This record gives sequence, structure tokens and C-alpha cells, in this order.
Amino acid sequence: LENGLARTPPMGWNTWNTFECNINETLVKQTTDLMVSSGMRDRGYTYVNLDDCWMTRSRDAGGNLVADPAKFPGGLKALGDYIHARGMKFGIYEDSGTMTCQGFPGSYGHEQADANLFASWGVDYLKYDNCHNDGTTQQDYIRRYSAMRDALQATKRPITYSICEWGYFDPATWAADVGNLWRTTGDITNNWGSVDAIYRQNVGLASAAKPGAWNDPDMLEVGNGMDFQEDRAHFTLWAAMAAPLIAGPDLRSASVATFSTYLNPDVIAVDQDPLGKQARRISSGDGLDVLAKPLQDGDAAIVLFNENSTPKTIATTAAAAGLPASASYRLTNLWSKELTTSTGAISATVPSHSTVVFRVKPGATGTSIGTTQPIQGASS
Ligand code: GLA
Repeated sequence: LENGLARTPPMGWNTWNTFECNINETLVKQTTDLMVSSGMRDRGYTYVNLDDCWMTRSRDAGGNLVADPAKFPGGLKALGDYIHARGMKFGIYEDSGTMTCQGFPGSYGHEQADANLFASWGVDYLKYDNCHNDGTTQQDYIRRYSAMRDALQATKRPITYSICEWGYFDPATWAADVGNLWRTTGDITNNWGSVDAIYRQNVGLASAAKPGAWNDPDMLEVGNGMDFQEDRAHFTLWAAMAAPLIAGPDLRSASVATFSTYLNPDVIAVDQDPLGKQARRISSGDGLDVLAKPLQDGDAAIVLFNENSTPKTIATTAAAAGLPASASYRLTNLWSKELTTSTGAISATVPSHSTVVFRVKPGATGTSIGTTQPIQGASS
């Protein structure tokens, strides 16, 4: 959607993946503070997003939505102020049908009033869901989601618009003019099978993604129970696919390893690259995929992904990744920070359920100093 927003994929945190309906003001404030103190905000995670269950079961006498006073005694205007005072942005959730997925009042028929209320609270981001909807055709979807797009626009407040329609009716063909991002799949859960299945559904949709309009393979489960390699693979694949990076764990108890994954500046830079291309899968077979993402400065991010339950060697070339011919390429391993020089061959042994990701720079060697310093013991 060309509304000037989401020129790179949105980054932030959302209540749903860990807390579902068990949310409150204290949780959101503590998380906001942790996003600042951990460095997440300064790495780009700016949105603090409420999901379902923030409201009461019915509208007030004036037809307005009401924030649940037991969960949010200070109200949502004050919560938005708290978030804004810390240099972050405030996100909220509603539904394009008559009720949200958890049975709270939906925005259908109330689009403008609800958009105005959100704007008055200082909302910067709306995730708009698809439960209890009235229509089953693509035209119904376009009508419902466009109604809220127009209502948000009429508020004159910049509000990033996240369409949550679970991939129905080939959203790549209609959603780019309606929202800033659109879900391409059903809901993610905190296990490898879910992450891998969602990856496979989303990876082929690269041609639809561009600044202001992103495929959304759902929010991150990093830190919610998968093992370390799986968490890093999940994060790397989402970054390569230019996906929104919306963190889902309880940051109050997140491990050092979890923060180190969310905070990797080089992988975040792949996701946030201003060229705005989603990686294309350039080879696939036997559970071994190679992805290539062109980057603004002429580099490419190349991901070697092993879906198997045993380690495998995966190989590709700079030419296969679309890089120009060159006598040498510098490969930066974006997790180990190791720098190597190649004449074009790119390969690695990749652990089970894992990725190796390189930033590949034509015309450079591993001894030159880039944005990333080699770690001790790195070859050059
Ligand atoms: C749907 C969405 C989820 C979450 C829940 C809340 O299932 O896809 O991301 O928002 O609703 O009820």
C-alpha cells in the first residue's frame, strides 16, 4: 500500500504468540522497557503491538470499543503515550468481521468510528483479522479490507495496516494495494514443523514483495521452545524472505541466546535492506534449499538451508545467485562473522534444521574490513 509506511518490513513485538488473551498493561509496559534496555528498539524493533482480547465483550452505549478496564486500567491512550515516550510505536488489533477470533466486537460496519478511536489513542499500527466475516469471495475480502484501509487513511494519522487474512484468495494478487503486509498462511506455532511448513508456503511468493507491501508468514517464535539452531534458522529464513520481524516471546524471561538471535545486526540488515526484495529460491531438492536476496549495495545474501534431520553439505555459486562475474567475492558468515574469499563457489556443511547465511560481496576479499569484524580464529 503506497501510504508512505513500511518501506522496510515492520519490526516489533506482539502479545499473541506467548500470552494469547492473558495480557495487561504491566506486561506491555515491562516489555516496552525491555525492548529499550536490551537494545531491541535501537536495532529497529519499534512496534509494541497488542493482539486480540484487549477490549470488553461489548461496545459502550455510544457504540465505541472499550479497553478492558481490568487489563488496562490506565486506558489505551495512556499506554500509547507510555510507548511513544520511549521512542516506540503503538500497535493494536481488530477484526474485519462481526467479532474477533476470540469473540470480542469486530469492526464490520464500524470501520470509521473504530479507526477514529484508534487514531485518538495514538495507534500507529493495526493488525486486522478475518474471523466471523460475512463473505466468502475474493471480492468480499477486498471490500472488507479496503473499507478499513480507507477509514485509516481518513483519520490522517499514519497507521501501518497489517492484513491478517491467512493467505486466502491469493493475496499477492490483491493485497498490495490494500495493506502494507498480508498474511500468507495460517497461524504459526512454536515448533519446527510449523516453521518449516510456513516457510515452504511463503518462499515462492517473492515477486509480490516490495517497499510498502510485504508477504507476512506470521510472527516469530524465536525464544518460544525450539532449539537454538531452529530458532536461528527461523530468524534467518524470515529475514531472507523480507518478512516482518515481530518477536513473540516473553522478553522478561528470554535467554541471552534468544536476545542474541533477535539482535544480530547483520541478519536484521538483510531483512531491512532498502532494495526491498524478498529472497528467491534458486535451488531446492532433498530438503536442501538455496535462497538468494539481492541487496541495495550490489551484495547478495545467500542462505543455505538444511531441512533434514542430519547435517548436509550445500553448495551453490555466486553466478547462480545472480551476482556479476568477478575475480573474487568476500563471504561474511552473518552468524559466526567469519570472513572468507571465494572465486565463486559457495558451500558449507549445514547442521540439521539449520541455515548458514553469507553476505557475498563481488570484487572484494575476506581480508578487507567491512561492517563486520572477523572473530578470532576466522580464516581469511
Ligand atoms: C487469528 C490470527 C492470530 C491471532 C488470533 C487472535 O488466529 O491469525 O495471529 O491474532 O487470531 O485471536
